[in-house]
Amino acid sequence: MALLFSSQADDPVAWTAMLRTAYPDLDIRIWPEVGAVADIDVALVWKYPPGDLARYPNLKLVCSLGAGVDHLLDDPKFPDVALVRIVDPAMTAGMTEFVCAAVLRHHCQFPEFAQYQRERRWMRQNRPPARERVVGILGMGELGRDAATMLQALGFTVIGWARTERKLAGVDTFGGAAGLPAFLARAQILVCLLPLTPATRGILNSALFAQLPRGAALVNVARGAHVVDGDLLAALDAGQLSGATLDVFSPEPLPAGHPFWSHPKIFVTPHVASLTNPRTAAAQIIENIRRFRAGEKLLNQVDRALGY
Ligand code: NAP
Ligand code: GLV
Repeated sequence: MALLFSSQADDPVAWTAMLRTAYPDLDIRIWPEVGAVADIDVALVWKYPPGDLARYPNLKLVCSLGAGVDHLLDDPKFPDVALVRIVDPAMTAGMTEFVCAAVLRHHCQFPEFAQYQRERRWMRQNRPPARERVVGILGMGELGRDAATMLQALGFTVIGWARTERKLAGVDTFGGAAGLPAFLARAQILVCLLPLTPATRGILNSALFAQLPRGAALVNVARGAHVVDGDLLAALDAGQLSGATLDVFSPEPLPAGHPFWSHPKIFVTPHVASLTNPRTAAAQIIENIRRFRAGEKLLNQVDRALGY
C-alpha cells in the first residue's frame, strides 16, 4: 500500500524525510506522480485539487496537513473515509504567539501611533491596563484555549465562546447561539479561532459587529470565509470597529485589487499565524499511520457531521 502526498504549500522532500525516519520503506507517491491509483490507502493533503481524492478506490485515511479541514470537506467529492487533522503543541504555541502579538498591538494602540508617525505628530495618549481590556475568543478548542491562557497571563480579562460551554479557569465562557450576545457585548478585542463550517461561515458580519462595544478590534486568524468582507469594511468606516488584524482571506492569496490591502485600519498578514512544520507535526502523522495499520483508534479524528 502507498501514501499519497498532495499539497501546493508543503515541502514533499521535508515530509518524505520525516516520514521515512519511522518508515524507511514507506511507498510515498507525490502528486501528480501517483502511479497505480489502487495502491493508495493513506493521503496526506493540503489544498489538493478538488475531486482528486475520489480517484483512489482503496483510500481509507486522509490526514490534513493543517489544523483546519474545511479545505477537504468543502470538496463535494471528498470520500467517505476517516479524516484526521493536526494538533501540534508547537503549532499551538505559534498561534498563541501570533494572537498575543496582535492583541497587544491593538491594546497598545500601535496602529494609531504608526499613523501619528507618518504625520510626524508627537501625540501622547494613555491606554487602560490590560485587566480592563476584555479579549473575547470565538472558538475555545485547541488553539483558543491556549491563547486564552497566555492572554490571561499577560493580564487581560479573557472571555470565550464555543458551541458547547467550555470551562477554563479564570475565563467567563459562553456556549452556543444563546450565549453569543452576552459574550459579544463585552468583547473589546475579538479573536476568531473557529473552524470554518456551514454553521460558522460568514459569522463575522454586520449583525455580529453591531453587538460589540463601539471601537472594538478584530483579530481573524481562523478562515477568510468567516468574514463578510463588505460588512467588515462598513463597520471599520463607521467607527463601530477601530481596526482589524487579518491573517486569512477568501480567496487566498488576497487579490491585488482587494480593498483590505490599502485600508488604513486593516493589518494584513499572508496566512502565517501558525504554519505546519514537518519537524514537529510529523510524529502524530506517523503515529496515526501506525494506528491505522494496527486497526487502533486514531488521534485527532474529525467529526464529519460537525465539520471539525
Ligand atoms: P478545534 O480544537 O476543533 O476547536 C474549535 C472550537 O470552535 C471549539 O471550541 C468548538 O466548540 C468551536 N466551534 C465550532 N463550531 C462552532 C459553532 N458553530 N459555534 C460556536 N463554536 C464553535 O480547532 P483548533 O485546532 O482550535 O483550530 C481552529 C481553527 O484555526 C482551525 O479550524 C483553522 O481554521 C484555524 N487555523 C488557522 C491557522 C493560521 O495560520 N491562520 C493555523 C491553524 C489553525 P466546542 O468546544 O464546543 O466543540
Ligand atoms: C492553517 O491554517 C491550518 O489550518 O493549519
